[in-house]
Amino acid sequence: MNHQLTPYFTKLVEYTKKDRVPFDVPGHKMGFFENDMTKILGKEVFRFDVNAPDGLDNLNVPKGVIKESQALFADAFKAEHAFFLTGGTTLGILALIMSTAKAKEKIIMPRNVHKSIISALIMSGAMPIFVEPVIDEDLGIANHMPLEALKIQIANHPDAKAVLIINPTYFGVASNIKEIVDIVHQHNMLVLADEAHGSHMVFSDELPMTAMQAGADLSATSIHKTSGSLTQSSAILAQGSRFDYTRLVATIHMVQSTSPSSLLLASLDVARKAMYFHAKDKIENLIPNVREVVTKINKLKGLSASTKEDFLKQGATHFDETKLIIKVTGLGLTGFDMYHLLSEKYEIQVELAETKLVLCVLSVGTTQSHLDRLYDALVDLSNTYGHQDLKVETFKPKGSFPEAYVRPRSAYHAPTRSVKYEEAVGEIAAESVMIYPPGIPILIPGEIIDQALVDELVFYISQGSTILSESEDGYFKVVDKLTWPKWEEIDDEL
Ligand SMILES: Cc1ncc(COP(=O)(O)O)c(C=O)c1O
Repeated sequence: MNHQLTPYFTKLVEYTKKDRVPFDVPGHKMGFFENDMTKILGKEVFRFDVNAPDGLDNLNVPKGVIKESQALFADAFKAEHAFFLTGGTTLGILALIMSTAKAKEKIIMPRNVHKSIISALIMSGAMPIFVEPVIDEDLGIANHMPLEALKIQIANHPDAKAVLIINPTYFGVASNIKEIVDIVHQHNMLVLADEAHGSHMVFSDELPMTAMQAGADLSATSIHKTSGSLTQSSAILAQGSRFDYTRLVATIHMVQSTSPSSLLLASLDVARKAMYFHAKDKIENLIPNVREVVTKINKLKGLSASTKEDFLKQGATHFDETKLIIKVTGLGLTGFDMYHLLSEKYEIQVELAETKLVLCVLSVGTTQSHLDRLYDALVDLSNTYGHQDLKVETFKPKGSFPEAYVRPRSAYHAPTRSVKYEEAVGEIAAESVMIYPPGIPILIPGEIIDQALVDELVFYISQGSTILSESEDGYFKVVDKLTWPKWEEIDDEL
């Protein structure tokens, strides 16, 4: 295939160069209606923001340039089919799960899934069968899904429709995807992948294998996070004949906007071309430089950076070294302190903070001078704080997630009441609660609230973290058992 071509982007440029009279939406009319943004960014960004005019194809029934761009995209990302998404991988996850399992059908997945998966479970009514991920006590994060634990759940639930894997986790840790795919397919289940953080991996053998390379059926991947397209542009990749193609397409249309952004679509087209020609070199030049900075950070007092070996020792199969994890507690600081210091004092924006660490996401756009700026700031911080013998208050994860009692959908639709944290132990959650980012729910609807969870939330609130839930801090929305005494019967209806 000719990857020099960018069918959608080229047609869009052609279209906007003409002297068009826009009697279609959007209402800014190619920038004729000016606003503060047109003054700063210029009219051009609005001129390129068109709906689905003549010749530019239609994302919901692609027959022209979008179809051609998607075919090139599928080829570059080693899939048979690609579907562009303008609502992020969140939307892709909804489509994957809703097209695979209906109410009460089972999907096996690690418990450290992103909130979009919990939303999909609520919408579809599917029953999650959780596998406990490996908990990394040193860093306080959840890592890969252990194969043995997965095999047990597959044996216990042979009727499950699919296994969902995170490839890789937010922190770059990869499970044994190849073996997982083989085992799951032997049991006639589908393999779905959340590859929000792994779209770039297909371009270098130094990185973990992608779901499509491993033979998985469906993947949702955030091109915007690591492959250079505009924020919110993602894709579903698919291959083989195990999944229901027609149902997948219908479900994508159900959740996708009927007015997809032309800027996002064009950015997917050009990002694919740029990655196809440059990603391998960029990534393979970056990795030795990252390794060098990791080695140097590990010599600084009070700081340490994770290596691939650290995760392999825990049983992970691979680690995406474009994720730089820096543990900071040796400086007497929390990850949250470090996050703010780096931003305020050094103009360095990291991806997220956890209690003990900060995560830097590197990509094809990362330069040596970015790495140098980070290292210089860390040297400065190590000199400032490294000599003090400060103890930092951290939270020790309890090593498991709360116990599930009913399906997320049932608890979500149950009658609810609001209770204070201290009165909530033993109640069934009716909402998701997460620390944001990373947006991995520590409680989901249907799980039983335990003391460890309450302690964890109290700790995070004291650290100034953002808690995402439907309730104000200090309260949970729980199932009102008094007005919902026979949940089993009601569960049958949903
Ligand atoms: C693991 C994981 N899955 C899915 C998503 C959703 O992706 P998007 O932001 O593209 O909607 C995210 C977002 O951070 C994520 O971290």
